[in-house]
Amino acid sequence: MNRPTVSKILGTGSFVPSRVVPNDEFAQTLDTSDEWIRTRTGIRERRYAGPADTSATMGTLAAREALAAAGVKPADVDLIVCGTVTPDMVCPSTACLIQAYLECGTIPAFDVGAACSGFVYALSVADQYVRAGTARRVLVVGTEVLSRVSDFTDRNTCILFGDAAGAVVLGPTDDPGRGVHQIRLYADGSRQELIQVPSMVTPNPPPGAGVLPNLRYLRMNGREVFKFAVTKLKEMIGQAREDCGAVGKRIKLIVPHQVNVRIIDAALEDLAIPPEAVVVNLDKYGNTSAASVPLALDEGIRTGRCGPGDTILLVAFGGGLTWSSALVTL
Ligand code: ACO
Repeated sequence: MNRPTVSKILGTGSFVPSRVVPNDEFAQTLDTSDEWIRTRTGIRERRYAGPADTSATMGTLAAREALAAAGVKPADVDLIVCGTVTPDMVCPSTACLIQAYLECGTIPAFDVGAACSGFVYALSVADQYVRAGTARRVLVVGTEVLSRVSDFTDRNTCILFGDAAGAVVLGPTDDPGRGVHQIRLYADGSRQELIQVPSMVTPNPPPGAGVLPNLRYLRMNGREVFKFAVTKLKEMIGQAREDCGAVGKRIKLIVPHQVNVRIIDAALEDLAIPPEAVVVNLDKYGNTSAASVPLALDEGIRTGRCGPGDTILLVAFGGGLTWSSALVTL
């Protein structure tokens, strides 16, 4: 009997814009300090897009790197799925723009909106296409320009975010034991008011939608999101350990959504996971939402912290609320 088709990560890539924004820059206009930001979040600096950078241009650069790592030509890509909450436009999708920039031909391309879980959600779509045999080379991108939806008068939020893009190429594998073992997706729309990036399409949302007054910018209830994030991170790592048992694997490296080192530390401490088993790069990039997990994954691979045959866990949580994980052997 034929083995069912399994998808595998064939290559990864990332892009960060060149402008480095250290914590001190915020202290010039806000009642904050490098010390507060470092000790409360772990963030030292982040990158901001230049005037010519957009989610699509940055996503394209990350995608080119992932395609090169995978040895796949743009013309051989069958599908593009892009996670973003900061698209260049509502229409066309950022995935369509990336398709055009890469000159992939008329392959399907669409965006997935799941905030910081956007990349893992997009990966799950790609995985389904590969498993079903309808696509052999899928480009999955997470890309954000959160600096353009940050309220620079709000010290509670603006200090957290940065701009970046990450990408992977997914394709089928015959190699037993490798590939995507399990992807788990969750959402709880009843808690939608905890993180919001309003749209200009609905300037006057219906009563009860909970949208906060300043419609242009990202809003967040940091304290509640913090508790949610620690709980879900722990739950998903626990669940993945069970899933690992079922496929006879051990997690070598956890690649969590990068938002606050205290969230990661709290989960690791409770689960007795050593720091060397986790990728943390939020000190350099802050929270880059849908770009965060593929950016950290690419760093993990390029610095040799994980490689072929290693089992890794991607974990993300964010607006929606959404939370998600992917257990993968590279
Ligand atoms: N500088 C100085 N003081 C600050 C700053 C700042 N940048 N930001 C907040 N404070 C103050 C607050 O005003 C408050 O002052 P008060 O006690 O006088 O009211 C005090 O610090 C404590 O505020 P808290 O909100 O309790 O601070 P906390 O330690 O929780 O840190 C933070 C806030 C960093 C936002 C944290 O709650 C956090 O990381 N939350 C999670 C965010 C997250 O996970 N987001 C992911 C999703 S984002 C997405 O999906 C796009």
